Amino acid sequence: MKVKITLQELLKIDFPVIMAPMFLVSNKEMMMAGMKAGIMSVFPSLNFRNEGELATLLTELNAAHLVNPKGNYGVNLIVQKTNPYYKKHLQICVEHKVPFYITSLGNPKEVIEEAHKYGAKVFCDVTNIAHAKKCYEANCDGFIAVGQGAGGHAGPNPLQVLIPALKEHFPDKPVIAAGGIVTGAGLLSVKVLGADGASIGTRFITCKECKVNEEYKQAIIKAGMDDIVMTTKLSGSPCTIIDTAEAKKMGYTQSAFERFMSNNPRTKKWFKMLVQARGMKKLEDSVLPNNYSKLWCAGKSVELIKDVLPCEQIISQIKTEFNSALEEVNDNNRL
Ligand SMILES: Cc1cc2nc3c(=O)[nH]c(=O)nc-3n(C[C@H](O)[C@H](O)[C@H](O)COP(=O)(O)O)c2cc1C
Repeated sequence: MKVKITLQELLKIDFPVIMAPMFLVSNKEMMMAGMKAGIMSVFPSLNFRNEGELATLLTELNAAHLVNPKGNYGVNLIVQKTNPYYKKHLQICVEHKVPFYITSLGNPKEVIEEAHKYGAKVFCDVTNIAHAKKCYEANCDGFIAVGQGAGGHAGPNPLQVLIPALKEHFPDKPVIAAGGIVTGAGLLSVKVLGADGASIGTRFITCKECKVNEEYKQAIIKAGMDDIVMTTKLSGSPCTIIDTAEAKKMGYTQSAFERFMSNNPRTKKWFKMLVQARGMKKLEDSVLPNNYSKLWCAGKSVELIKDVLPCEQIISQIKTEFNSALEEVNDNNRL
């Protein structure tokens, strides 16, 4: 008989939650705090683009992991051809034996091959079955099911459909749900659907350790779900942002010319790189302390976020809520 191993055993963590990678948001302090609290902390390699930064951080995280083995850490690599840092960052990660990877937006084959050489695990962001099939064929270790309303590049499909569909097509692979999860009840709900854990992004923008400017944090606390809109203007792919006056001015969809340039085989790669570089700059101007632009990426879960708390407290709250939600379901809902 095949014994199913839990996500906690597979990823060497205490609690089945990932602190999701967030461009310009994830930082060293958040990674350390998440690991200490027993979850999987993941950051995008693109947050550490200056020479030597990524290698230094990985050395520190490896040292911290020896002291705090309850949690673990991973790196998010954008495997799209338009990411000029991809090859270099993969090499640095492999040299430092990063234990876990999340790939997004392209073909994860090379990351999986390199990671498996030393026993690291690779989960792939997926929003539909067609992309999941490619990742499965490339031998990924699991999926991050990115559903509707997630912060960043949200998917078009609700988690209530995406999670069971992934489980049906690929029953041997763990699935982690991403999008809209803030509370323990949210975590329980995706587990009931068949997910093995949750990846939580937007909630952690309002953690104490996060160094984005105070206005961004307060905008998340004030915003409701209807204040979140999708725009393709920042990266070419649909991305969720708070609908500020600046977002309205930038617009939500690419022009016919931009779409032509993004689809034409001769201009596609370079035009997408240009759009992404401009988008990065716009976001950067809005996120860093002392910057006053207002283009803020966040998911629909802003509706449920009311405070700024230390990471450890956010995680312990989710644990407590999870257990009470489970008790409540057991006590009250026998049909
Ligand atoms: C500000 C922000 C930046 C993000 N940047 C990335 C990124 O660089 N790479 C990535 O794979 N996902 C990125 N995401 C998506 C998250 O990893 C995760 O899938 C998402 O936040 C989950 O949904 P939630 O925000 O509703 O919890 C980002 C999300 C946010 C809110």
